[in-house]
Amino acid sequence: MKKIFYVLILGVILIGVVSVKAEEKNDRYPFFPSLINTNTGKPVKSGDFEQPEVCRACHTDIYNQWKGSMHSNAFIDPVFQALWKIGNKETNGLTEKLCAGCHTAIGTVSDELGKKDAQGNYNISEIAQKGVQCDVCHNVKSSTALEAEGHEPHNATFIIEPGIKRGPFKDGDSPHHAIAYSDLHTSAEFCGNCHHVFHPVNNFPIERTYDEWKNSVYSQNGIICQDCHMADVEDAVEIARTLKKVKHSGKASNSGPEREQIYKHNFDGANFTIPGLLGYTKHSEAAAKRLQSAANLEIISPDEFKAGQMGGFKIKVTNVAAGHNLPTSLTEVRQMWLEVEVTDDAGKKILHSGWLDKEYNVDPEAAMFHAKSVDKDGKDTVKPWEIVRFESNNTIPPKGSAIQNYNVEIPSDTKGNLQVKAILRYRSYPQAVANLLLGRDAPVLPIVNMTTASKSVKIVKS
Ligand code: HEC
Ligand code: HEC
Ligand code: HEC
Ligand code: HEC
Ligand code: HEC
Repeated sequence: MKKIFYVLILGVILIGVVSVKAEEKNDRYPFFPSLINTNTGKPVKSGDFEQPEVCRACHTDIYNQWKGSMHSNAFIDPVFQALWKIGNKETNGLTEKLCAGCHTAIGTVSDELGKKDAQGNYNISEIAQKGVQCDVCHNVKSSTALEAEGHEPHNATFIIEPGIKRGPFKDGDSPHHAIAYSDLHTSAEFCGNCHHVFHPVNNFPIERTYDEWKNSVYSQNGIICQDCHMADVEDAVEIARTLKKVKHSGKASNSGPEREQIYKHNFDGANFTIPGLLGYTKHSEAAAKRLQSAANLEIISPDEFKAGQMGGFKIKVTNVAAGHNLPTSLTEVRQMWLEVEVTDDAGKKILHSGWLDKEYNVDPEAAMFHAKSVDKDGKDTVKPWEIVRFESNNTIPPKGSAIQNYNVEIPSDTKGNLQVKAILRYRSYPQAVANLLLGRDAPVLPIVNMTTASKSVKIVKS
């Protein structure tokens, strides 16, 4: 009897604690589980924001760079849409605002997500469909994460205030809008508000791009996200090599003064698949080029192998140009792997690893650089709402490298040389995941060859 009493009391206390916590969160974060907020703590009308096409009139170059980027595609991206829909169904709507806070901040703060058609599609306003757009970024007033001590930016911890455009200039003057200088916009923490995704219940960091950067040699040298992603790939490569910023003068608006430093708004990352699917060739090609600049391959082997014995060699993959791990962010989905072939002089294959099967699945034995994410029962899952931990994670840290061992059995009648050929390959998603998410519309996913290496090894008699 006494026991039951104590259990009851404990239960009441626990319920009290949990509900206070939820209330506190809802008070501070009215769009919880997204941590986005407005300056009033109340929803604002989507009509209070201006369409990117309004900005185009005076910021033509910037608009043209942004259009087609993954920021402009962040809401319409069919892969996002498909996963979001599944999440909303499986969690009874709990993921709705969480995901939307980053993928359509305007749709979230305007409380437009409630409106759905019979197929479960969201009838949000046209402006809210334009993803991470000009006014989302330039109406950010501050970051709640930076104000609350010891908190890193994550899950859209920012406050948005329609109207004043905030940016890097202290002396800007615009006939169209008020302007304010913002330190936040010239920092990586600004990007970290979205490029740092935590599970809102179990707190597991699912996408850690910001953190990976923060602990890197780039952050130590003051090189921030903007320096590489608001710049052409060639400049980003130079920055990665020298750890020094590359500056570009230009105009911020069609009518403004010539300035010493102007950032581009291309935001090319690694996603060449979606811009390609949506017809934005320029962005697709730039992302492929960025991938092709990111890594180095080296084949390490003895100069000779003995016929009839095992020949061992290593392949070293170095992250030379990414300011964070390679790959980064959705590391449980992205595929970066080694395809390795060893052939003799007659062209006979002695080893082949990292092949694709008829369904375009990658050889399960291939050296794959990614995270393996599991749910609470330890089962594989790539659904972000189910992930509780990574069982393994062998993504390559900035300027770090990974070494993979290979062994070949060399037939005793082999003569001449062996050719070792390695290709580092990249695909945005496993084909099976794309098939699941995109259904009948799923294309055969393109693959980018990031870099290659080859080496010839002499065969001697044993
Ligand atoms: C993902 C956030 C983001 C989006 C979307 C975005 N900007 Fe920016 N913008 C920035 C940041 C960050 C800077 C400042 C970078 C720095 O100085 O470190 C900037 C700089 C600027 C500048 C100053 C000149 C320059 O390029 O350095 C102007 C003007 C500007 N943005 C206009 C726009 C317009 C117009 C759009 C939409 C077509 C847009 N921005 C979309 C983040 C964004
Ligand atoms: C804190 C901000 C944030 C939250 C919350 C968030 N995302 Fe994202 N999401 C991002 C960023 C940033 C990327 C880009 C990273 C990349 O390209 O690898 C991204 C990329 C994606 C992609 C990859 C799209 C592609 O074409 O490759 C999918 C799918 C996705 N998110 C789904 C979701 C779902 C579903 C949720 C909610 C359960 C969610 N996201 C919550 C910021 C967020
Ligand atoms: C009628 C022309 C015009 C329109 C329309 C316009 N701008 Fe501007 N904007 C300017 C001028 C001029 C400047 C100052 C440029 C300078 O000083 O180099 C400016 C500066 C800025 C800056 C830099 C602020 C700072 O202090 O760093 C941002 C950000 C910006 N605009 C964003 C936008 C956005 C977003 C839109 C669309 C919603 C927009 N602008 C529409 C003319 C315009
Ligand atoms: C409001 C949230 C938000 C902010 C702020 C933000 N991003 Fe993003 N970013 C996203 C989302 C969401 C995506 C991915 C959309 C998708 O894949 O569907 C993305 C995609 C990207 C990509 C392309 C990724 C790829 O797969 O190719 C790059 C690069 C990028 N962001 C860089 C930046 C940088 C640099 C900043 C800071 C100047 C920044 N972002 C600020 C939300 C944000
Ligand atoms: C030194 C240059 C450099 C810096 C600094 C840098 N990046 Fe990258 N980023 C790259 C390269 C190269 C790639 C392509 C390889 C890869 O995916 O890691 C990339 C890829 C990405 C992607 C695409 C990931 C995907 O899976 O599609 C995102 C998102 C991104 N970066 C965001 C950021 C953010 C946010 C920061 C700052 C916290 C940042 N980057 C800092 C060079 C840089």
